Amino acid sequence: MLTENFTKADIVARYLPEKLIATDQAEAFAPSNIALCKYWGKRQSELNLPVNSSLSISLAHLGTRTQIRPSQTGEDQVVLNGQLLPVESSFACKVISFVDLFRRGRSYPLIVDTRNNIPTAAGLASSASGFAALTQAINQYFQLQLPDAVLSAFARMGSGSASRSIYSGFVEWRMGLQEDGMDSHAYPLDIIWPDLRVGLVKVSTAVKAVDSRSGMKRTVETASLYQSWPAQAAQDLEKIHQALSDGNFSELGAVAEHNAMSMHATMIASWPPLLYWQPDSVVAMQKIWALREAGVEVYFTMDAGPNLKLLFQEKNQALLETEFPGLEVVAPFEASESLNSSTTTVKEPS
Ligand code: ADP
Ligand code: DP6
Ligand code: CO
Repeated sequence: MLTENFTKADIVARYLPEKLIATDQAEAFAPSNIALCKYWGKRQSELNLPVNSSLSISLAHLGTRTQIRPSQTGEDQVVLNGQLLPVESSFACKVISFVDLFRRGRSYPLIVDTRNNIPTAAGLASSASGFAALTQAINQYFQLQLPDAVLSAFARMGSGSASRSIYSGFVEWRMGLQEDGMDSHAYPLDIIWPDLRVGLVKVSTAVKAVDSRSGMKRTVETASLYQSWPAQAAQDLEKIHQALSDGNFSELGAVAEHNAMSMHATMIASWPPLLYWQPDSVVAMQKIWALREAGVEVYFTMDAGPNLKLLFQEKNQALLETEFPGLEVVAPFEASESLNSSTTTVKEPS
């Protein structure tokens, strides 16, 4: 099953013109996203091919803005949030080796200037918006004019979750079957829920001790509970599709929360154990369960980090802002509503 026949460079090369022509400067924004049905585990690590399909919601204005311009010094430079990083840092190395896939040994010294308006490497999906914005900026910089599906597959090779950040709104990343992974990319769903809100409960914005990549590798290799994950993820994905087409917010929230807790159960069952939670994560979970007992429709999901993302409807926003001081609220469909309204189906959750 684990074939490593295709390298990222082989695959990208197929889509490049004979002669690359660079523009003066390119800039792209990509939203971060939060999965309602999680990607956890790879069937192939070179290309980030997943064990299961996943489905997410993009976080509108929260994400990464990346600019690419020529470097006058002749050396590559990577700037994160205004700070020049050492070229040997792992962040800069990953960015440079991704850009190298497109330069293929040709001399195009570049400045990659990137800004995250979400915390970096803290379980708030910076790798998703980061690699999606980088892929889009490269596409513009070298005037490649690649279709979104190809950009999504390329972004996936930088970080799996980035495949979904090429699109806004609800997005499904279908795992695909092909060995070269080119059918493993995301699709935007033709549904909008204008009153859906995502609230970020920031328990800690520190860089996590174990990044998502090593965390999922450890889980696949050591957690026997992981065996049940692919079937559960497939089932949850079906249920989420159903909830979306029924406009059933409670079902969507419940399945997303169950899916997140099941993924965390596989992490905890790894060895050495992986517990991304902090005491305040558990305090927040208990508060959410108490609110639900009291009749407030609020659910949560969590990625590989201590922060919670609340799922609720606009009518409960004021109450939840009081219950969770400092809650950062995102309206995922605010920007896309006017852009997509002629082509998308508005399903108001019941
Ligand atoms: P997160 O939960 O934030 O996605 P990960 O462990 O998955 O955490 O990924 C963090 C990594 O994502 C960083 O170490 C870096 O390699 C990459 N990354 C984050 N932001 C950017 C960005 N703006 N541009 C390119 N890569 C980024
Ligand atoms: C828990 O996409 O960050 O957020 O592909 O190794 O870069 P790599 O991992 P990454 O993993 C995300 C895991 C998750 C779930 C999800 O976003 O679906
Ligand atoms: Co990530």
